[in-house]
Amino acid sequence: MAFLLPDEPLDSLDEYVDGFDGGQGLLRARELEAIGVIDAIDRSGLRGRGGAGFPTGRKWASIAAGGPEVGDRYVVANGAEGEPGTFKDRMLMRRNPYQVVEGVAIAAATVGAVGAYIAVKASFEPEIAALERALSEMAGTQLIGDVPVTLVTGPDEYLFGEEKGLLEVIEGEDPLPRLFPPYVYGLFTTSPQMGWSAGLDLSSDGPAIPSSNPTLVNNVETLATVVPVLGHGPEWYREMGTPQSPGVVLCTVVGDTQRAGVAEVEMGTSLGEVIERVGGGPKPGRSVKAVLSGVANGVVAGDALDAPVSYEGLEAVGGGLGAAGFIVYDDTADMIAVAQAASRFLYVESCGQCPPCKFGTGAVTAVLDRVLAGDATVRDVEVMAARLETVTDSNRCFLPVQEQLVVRSILRAFAGELDGYVTGRTPPLTTEVVVPKLVDIRDGVAIVDERQARKRADWTYPE
Ligand SMILES: Cc1cc2nc3c(=O)[nH]c(=O)nc-3n(C[C@H](O)[C@H](O)[C@H](O)COP(=O)(O)O)c2cc1C
Ligand code: SF4
Repeated sequence: MAFLLPDEPLDSLDEYVDGFDGGQGLLRARELEAIGVIDAIDRSGLRGRGGAGFPTGRKWASIAAGGPEVGDRYVVANGAEGEPGTFKDRMLMRRNPYQVVEGVAIAAATVGAVGAYIAVKASFEPEIAALERALSEMAGTQLIGDVPVTLVTGPDEYLFGEEKGLLEVIEGEDPLPRLFPPYVYGLFTTSPQMGWSAGLDLSSDGPAIPSSNPTLVNNVETLATVVPVLGHGPEWYREMGTPQSPGVVLCTVVGDTQRAGVAEVEMGTSLGEVIERVGGGPKPGRSVKAVLSGVANGVVAGDALDAPVSYEGLEAVGGGLGAAGFIVYDDTADMIAVAQAASRFLYVESCGQCPPCKFGTGAVTAVLDRVLAGDATVRDVEVMAARLETVTDSNRCFLPVQEQLVVRSILRAFAGELDGYVTGRTPPLTTEVVVPKLVDIRDGVAIVDERQARKRADWTYPE
């Protein structure tokens, strides 16, 4: 039984209401009122599915807590999915846009928002069509509530998905992360602050009392999950999964597997079983060498596939759940090439507002390029280790932490491969490995954005 992702796309509001319990969450939210909704979400143990796993109930409570002095409140549904190896948000918005909208409506009513936004990339055409259909069918019904919900589109850049970059895009700017998190300074804030100018009115007749406009940013899967959590109750939700990671999670499996796919999985299922069930397992005659969850967590070695897919289960083996986009590498994979591809992706996507991040990811990528070319010295490798120490200095966002986690863990787990390159003892493995930025998954085949390999560090492309 699916609670988020139907096997086939829901084509109408009637299908959602009749076949997927649509509307039950909002109905229950009205009965419980804000305090009861937050308590129910808190008790369900739901954690954010955007990558960081922050407890959702606690986040909602912090936004709802401010008095009138904080100004207006907003809700933003993050559907900008850009994590390599991840396609679950797009699949959800395609197949079940109604539940995303219902989740947004519940959040907006609960935190007392004056407006809500669903943010997706302009290139997500099927998802935009599905969300527009859902918004227009739900308009004026009891299924959407009173708070206006606006669909916003933005650029293809990775940082559009970062919550502080996301707010910038909604205000019409580039996705350059702001200094403070959305729950402190949200959309259209008029509070003066350092480092960015959004909404700042410096005119003498500006607002008498500056407002910080706390804004709730949640991933679209998180918001869609709130609907059955309320509809069936937090105790029901806790019957699934593990005590620390209750419920179900949408997983993507791509890479060296029989097929690519997205599926709803109970938390606590072993990583090996998820790879089998969603991806059909490794290709014939091959075995799993390593798994990455996007480019956001440490690598999980192929001998740890018994680890449960849960926040604590993957952390215990050096990885992390992240956005549950599992990139599988088999025994032909060159893990130093994987580290280079991950580092290059993060270097290119870094916005450069924090020099240690842009220069550090660039320096690490340059050393890995030399390693792969067989030109690196032991000194180069020492320089790379030093850059991995400082890459996170004065960081505004988590991107350079990802660099540290992914590259360091690969170099540690596969030290022999690095050593082989540097000393020239082993010939490089030949497999072509990518960190796939997905544009679609069609009939079990992952379609990758080929342009990403040519994207330059200033976010332009060669002719
Ligand atoms: C570089 C970077 C990219 C991110 N991309 C996404 C994304 O595409 N979608 C998303 O929901 N969260 C993304 N996040 C996480 C968001 O900043 C934020 O934590 C999340 O939307 C909060 O929602 P949640 O509490 O429901 O997880 C990204 C974070 C970073 C540092
Ligand atoms: S940490 Fe990196 S990606 Fe994040 S804001 Fe700073 S320079 Fe940009």
